[in-house]
Order: sequence, then structure tokens, then C-alpha cells
Amino acid sequence: MVIGDWDLVICPAFGPTGEAVSQTHPTISAKVAQITWEPVIVAFLCNWCSYAGADLAGSSRLSYPANVRVVRVPCSGRVNPMFVIQCFKRGFDGVLIAGCHPGDCHYAKGNYYARRRMPLVQELLGYLGVEPGRIRFDWVSASESGRFAEVVSEVTEAVRKLGPYGRPSPIAVPMLPTDIAQVTETEPVHEQG
Ligand code: FES
Repeated sequence: MVIGDWDLVICPAFGPTGEAVSQTHPTISAKVAQITWEPVIVAFLCNWCSYAGADLAGSSRLSYPANVRVVRVPCSGRVNPMFVIQCFKRGFDGVLIAGCHPGDCHYAKGNYYARRRMPLVQELLGYLGVEPGRIRFDWVSASESGRFAEVVSEVTEAVRKLGPYGRPSPIAVPMLPTDIAQVTETEPVHEQG
């Protein structure tokens, strides 16, 4: 429970009955949050291959980390770089893009476009402070349920090692009103005419 800036947590040292409800310092609750943190990864899956592979993994009862939030797209080539940027802007910890194997794309070249695009997105986001390991591009066919589970496990582990992304708005750096005021105060005003 959060009251103001303080979290109320039940301290296990005082037993589970609840009589020992203690107020803890925000840094302690931040540490607790860190321990219980689980990465949340957005997975853009091509409808024809990777999504079907994920579906098969589910129906085959393969176990894989439940850290992915699946977005079904018609083709990996449909994944606009802005989608990836938006994911990080909204505070997700990682992004997985999976499509058909080269030569199997239902739209002939969509996955080739994605393959060229994603390293550039990784590099661009690297400049903005997003570690390249948070973005994974891979091929998973409709019959590769095991491969899907493997890729999800790998990407989850990689993002877990990197830790929480934790910046809700890394892209937009707002200009502070005080900065604007300073600029307008110091800038000489040139009169027209
Ligand atoms: Fe699957 Fe294009 S249809 S990557």
C-alpha cells in the first residue's frame, strides 16, 4: 500500500498476522521492488510464422518465460521503427521482433526489409541510451515451437541481466521553462526595422 511517498509493508520478522505493519524508507521498498522485478518484453510476431510458432508452443505445452506481451503483425516488415521506440518510451524493458525465415516471407521481401532496418534501430537507440541487448530480431517458423521458447528464454535472460529499463520517457527531452526564461533573458532583442 502506498501512502504519500511512503510504502507500508508487512515485515516478516514480526509474523504474518499484520500487527507489525511498519513504515519503511522509500529506498528499502525500492530494493524490494528490485528483487521482485521481472522484465516485460514486447514481442512483435509475424502472423504467418512466428505467431503460429508461439501458438504451437502453447498447444504443445512448452514452458517459456511469461515475460513477453505478444503483438501480432502481418509481417516482420510491418514493424515500424517507431513501434520499437514507442515501446521504450512507454517503459518496456525489451523488444523482440520475430518473422519468417529468409525466403519464406508471405510478402516476399518483408523480412529482408526488417533485417536491414532493425540493426539501424538498435544503433539509433544505442545513441539514446538503450542497450542493444534489449532488442532482438530473429527467425521463427510456424513449426519451430521449441525455437520460439528458446528465443523467448534467451531474450528474457538477456534483458534480466541488463536490469529494468526504468525510464518512462527517454526519447522526449523537454526543455525546461526555466531554460527558456534564461535564454530569453540573456538573448539580445533585435528590433525590427
Ligand atoms: Fe512473416 Fe513476412 S510474412 S516475415
